[in-house]
Amino acid sequence: MVRRSSSPNRVSAPTPSPQPLSPDVVVLGGLNLDIVVQVPALPRPGETVAGGSLAMHPGGKGANQAVAAARLGAGTAMIGRVGADDFGRQLRAALDAAGVSTVAVQDDPSEPTGVALIAVEPSGQNSIVVAPGANLRVSPDDVVAAGRLFESARVCLMPLEVPLDTIAAAAERAQAAGCKVILNAAPATELPSELLTTIDLLVANEVEAATLLHTRLPAKPDDAALALLALGARGAILTLGERGLWLAQAGRLDYVPAFPVRAVDTTAAGDAFLGGLAAAHVRGTELAEACRYGAAAAALAVTRPGAQPSLPAAVEVEALLGQQANG
Ligand code: RIB
Repeated sequence: MVRRSSSPNRVSAPTPSPQPLSPDVVVLGGLNLDIVVQVPALPRPGETVAGGSLAMHPGGKGANQAVAAARLGAGTAMIGRVGADDFGRQLRAALDAAGVSTVAVQDDPSEPTGVALIAVEPSGQNSIVVAPGANLRVSPDDVVAAGRLFESARVCLMPLEVPLDTIAAAAERAQAAGCKVILNAAPATELPSELLTTIDLLVANEVEAATLLHTRLPAKPDDAALALLALGARGAILTLGERGLWLAQAGRLDYVPAFPVRAVDTTAAGDAFLGGLAAAHVRGTELAEACRYGAAAAALAVTRPGAQPSLPAAVEVEALLGQQANG
């Protein structure tokens, strides 16, 4: 966690965990310094809202997913870029502390570290604006330079905060190495069908699904999950927050309920789910059960503030799964 104290932008010195040389999971994605304010209600267009005190946390969908997978036991490496600045050093230190390999995280010489401005209301709902900075400089050459990481990896996880041509290059590299590609369609954007047909699993929430399907928010989520599958990936997951998720694969549709919890901050809930899904999947857990594991990780993440500080350890996820099994 990035702590605010006498020096507001400094991270406390963490004890680094050992970094994997041969990761199980490779994450290509964005790293952001999250600047967070609690607000009584999210502002409407044109409205100014007085909020609470400022907090800063390491974030970015890619980095969050990498930290989530590592905390849940998967050897994990990150491919991305930060600026050659203090925020970049803080984000790198946070990955190091979680045991995520940063060998393929570069300091970009020309752009600053990505920053996300986040408002969170008491229900836990948020709104996020990102200044992407160095994230937009992650290039197909970075994927080539990190090529060795794909040799051991069983899963390549990719949200969409880096350029699409880089994501396409990584999907191709991962497929060539026999590594399963999980594409997280966040933030919402349209995706070319050539990319969708090269991936193993497409994961979208309702807003992202609506963008991909060119519809309004899907009325029947099971149909929407099948419509996502029809876009060309070998599997599709539609996440519905506290209403659970649908997993669609050829000839099979599974519903996975959410774990009921009291949310204080939904930031990084999707990232916790993806990290948990990947960590369980590389251990050989079949996909519907891996989704349940990811859902437990997401439920725990929303009970705590911040992105990376909220991501749970394996022992917590197992305790929650155990409680459900016994209850
Ligand atoms: O998914 C949550 C993340 O989205 C935040 O950490 C923020 O950095 C944005 O990328």
